Amino acid sequence: MTSEPLPITIKGTGSYAPEKVLTNDDISKLVDTSDEWILSRSGIKERRIAAKNETCSDMAAKAGLAAMKAANLSPEDIDLVIVATITPDKPFPSTACLTQHKLGLPNAVCFDIEAACSGFLFALETGVALVRSGNYRHALIIGSEKMSSIIDWTDRTTCVLFGDSAGAVIIGEGSIPGTGFLGANLSSDGASSDILHVPGGGSLIPPSADSVASGQHFLKMKGREVFKFAVRSMEQSAIDILKQYNFTTKQIDVVIPHQANLRIIELLSSKLELPMEKFFINLDRYGNTSSASIPLALDEAVQAKKIKSNDLILMLAFGGGLTWGSALIRWP
Ligand code: ACO
Repeated sequence: MTSEPLPITIKGTGSYAPEKVLTNDDISKLVDTSDEWILSRSGIKERRIAAKNETCSDMAAKAGLAAMKAANLSPEDIDLVIVATITPDKPFPSTACLTQHKLGLPNAVCFDIEAACSGFLFALETGVALVRSGNYRHALIIGSEKMSSIIDWTDRTTCVLFGDSAGAVIIGEGSIPGTGFLGANLSSDGASSDILHVPGGGSLIPPSADSVASGQHFLKMKGREVFKFAVRSMEQSAIDILKQYNFTTKQIDVVIPHQANLRIIELLSSKLELPMEKFFINLDRYGNTSSASIPLALDEAVQAKKIKSNDLILMLAFGGGLTWGSALIRWP
């Protein structure tokens, strides 16, 4: 006989966005673009930019602290920290270790996960499995990105889209069976890794004067291909996870999609026949914050009381790798 899996629930959420706001008009002073073009093609009005000396782990620690406060937990209670990021402070050690130190978490095991904009969902499923194993009680799962550090500010096809921020959740054992994290459906396909990537800075093209001069350390993207992949992959992932866990789209109360482009979300809404009112959207104010986008949106939705007890939440993500996926949460 199979027993019900241990309910793993979200005990608290938190987020942090840097103070500096960069509007579309500000960007139009840097590259040949306009507020009208950016808004109509992406839905983005402005984004936050971290201070020069503000790192990925600084933002992760601020979001993490807010989540710990919301969960009413002390530093000793956290025994696992997973940070999802593509903009770590350094190649190593992990941003999770640096975040642990900033938060003073004496008992935490720490490591990073890299799955680009899908990173938060990959980190969440990993954290749930580890807490369910019984070896960890409270996991701090963070998505944090300083996208401004890998953006080519002379490339109008990418620099208008991204922003910096961090979002976090604390997960732990819940008391009500059937609530909390119900499951995830994650996928990867390395065959198209070059439609969205940073070519340099790793072992393939180690940093050198040449690699920097030719901009190999900047994010490169084939926007149209990514757009098509985004709609296709998130649609299929949503269909698959709903079937897997026996739900219909009508039962979904709130969708937290990766906040990349409003047109992608609108297409998804019409293909899934899920009304736009169910999608929580904040990309107009933050742009695409990669792995921070889902936990940042989740925290804002919670703060704005858009999520109620017993709501069924569908999270959807896609990103470089390629990676994509979905997760279902019955809000406690
Ligand atoms: N301002 C003005 N014109 C621009 C700009 C700009 N910022 N950027 C591109 N253009 C021009 C192009 O040069 C092109 O001109 P041309 O026709 O003379 O060649 C024209 O606008 C159309 O360009 P497209 O790329 O075809 O525009 P599109 O409608 O596809 O929109 C966009 C581009 C917004 C990038 C869209 O393709 C998109 O959103 N793609 C998905 C991107 C995405 O979600 N990325 C996140 C990945 S998540 C992760 O893992 C990091």
